[in-house]
Amino acid sequence: MLVLLNSSYEELSREAARIVEGAVRSKPSVTLGLATGSTTLGMYKELGRLHREQALDFSKVATFNLDEYLGLAAEHPQSFHCFMWENFFAHVNVEPGNIHIPDGTIAGDYEEYCSAYERAIREAGGIDLQILGIGRNGHVGFNEPTSSFGSRTRLKVLTNETLEDNRRFFGAGEEMPQCAITMGIGTILEAKKILLLATGAAKAETVAEAIEGPITASVTASCLQLHPDATFVIDEAAGARLKQRDYYRRVMEMTARFTPNRLL
Ligand code: F6R
Repeated sequence: MLVLLNSSYEELSREAARIVEGAVRSKPSVTLGLATGSTTLGMYKELGRLHREQALDFSKVATFNLDEYLGLAAEHPQSFHCFMWENFFAHVNVEPGNIHIPDGTIAGDYEEYCSAYERAIREAGGIDLQILGIGRNGHVGFNEPTSSFGSRTRLKVLTNETLEDNRRFFGAGEEMPQCAITMGIGTILEAKKILLLATGAAKAETVAEAIEGPITASVTASCLQLHPDATFVIDEAAGARLKQRDYYRRVMEMTARFTPNRLL
């Protein structure tokens, strides 16, 4: 596992975008796994700039989003569909036919729908690079604490903590979805490379648990300790509770010197 410590949110956003850029330039038909959430905003903005100013071409890229609220139509302003269009897809040239986001309006056979989402990922050749944020409770995607490490795309009930964290995005009196469709931990761990982004002091405790704590379904991001190519791209505030900060800095220096490909 690599831990890339950045001095600021702006720097971590540029660093994450640089890694995505490397993946797209080296494989124009790369399959990206995408996350929503405020942490990813700077990275998407920078990718938009790279598209406009440095001809970063997404025309052959395929994308699969991690999750969507159950009950929200694509047009709902708080849907992850809307988030992705406003913050990323409207600013780059991903073909609409190559974009996959779970449908929040499905009703009935959820299991069949979720199996079809998994099938679509497999048919696209699997996810080459998966982007993740992390919840205060350690979730990745909406894999809430106690999610199985073998879980696949499914319907998941959101915890009270997640509902509290995300209620601010919904209007006063507006009902917030209690469930989501999310890729599973098993799905995420099959990605060839994983980047987890975290910013701010509110994430420091859970980031330390995910990186240095035991592997446990109580902090589902700790599953990344099992992955052969997972990188945490974090800022100083999010890394403040890590015990091995100095070691991670030395690893960054030595990696740049001896195995720079690892940082691409
Ligand atoms: C969103 C997602 C979530 C968020 C996480 C962090 O698609 O899967 O796991 O990445 O809740 O959200 P922010 O960045 O808003 O703190």
